Amino acid sequence: MNLIVEHSALSDVTERIFVANKVLFAFPLYVDSMPGLVMELFESLYNLKGKLSGKEFLFSIQCAFRETLNPRFIERYLMKLTERLGADYAGCISRGVMEGERFLSEDSQILQRYRKLGEIYGKTGKQDKDLLEKIADPERIPLAAKAIALVLSPIGIFGKYWKRQLKTNGVSEEGMTDLIKKRNESFACIPLYYKILQSELASEKNWKLSPGCS
Ligand SMILES: Cc1cc2nc3c(=O)[nH]c(=O)nc-3n(C[C@H](O)[C@H](O)[C@H](O)COP(=O)(O)O)c2cc1C
Repeated sequence: MNLIVEHSALSDVTERIFVANKVLFAFPLYVDSMPGLVMELFESLYNLKGKLSGKEFLFSIQCAFRETLNPRFIERYLMKLTERLGADYAGCISRGVMEGERFLSEDSQILQRYRKLGEIYGKTGKQDKDLLEKIADPERIPLAAKAIALVLSPIGIFGKYWKRQLKTNGVSEEGMTDLIKKRNESFACIPLYYKILQSELASEKNWKLSPGCS
């Protein structure tokens, strides 16, 4: 890690991490991984390696796809990262269907659950297993629902909202058709994608919940 130079814009954050007892890293899933800036922050934390003992690292990842299965892979990396840095892993709050979450109302059920989870963590130092599961729901979409979606997809039933958005933003019919065709092609790849994911996960026992749960 001697190639890593501390990024000046991140030094303020690393300083704050250095003085904190508990740190929550919250970020969106980008291309099944993390945004580059987050990666850069994690790398800059190597400068604090050996000085982080006793600190708790808690993570929160949100993604747009419906299944919480999507961010689960990165949780494994976060566990390893925390261990390598010498901090304590306090778990990971993961959730799908969060595109546009900034438009959620403050009293929406999901934000209330996040808040409650934080309250409990603040009081007990543990993540509430039941709330974590509720936040992560659906972990996977049932196979029957996927089959129905596959059958209905060519009719264009799921594209209505996006078609409207494209029209509102002046995207041409040809451009739309091309985009929808591409989307349907990628949709057709989903069963194969899940088969690979499921076979990878089959070897992981008790993977669904992060350590740190009460
Ligand atoms: C560059 C980029 C890559 C993304 N990659 C994924 C992805 O691989 N899987 C996923 O479920 N969501 C992905 N998303 C969606 C974000 O995770 C989602 O938009 C975010 O969690 C919600 O925050 P927002 O409302 O600010 O977009 C991506 C978004 C962007 C901008």
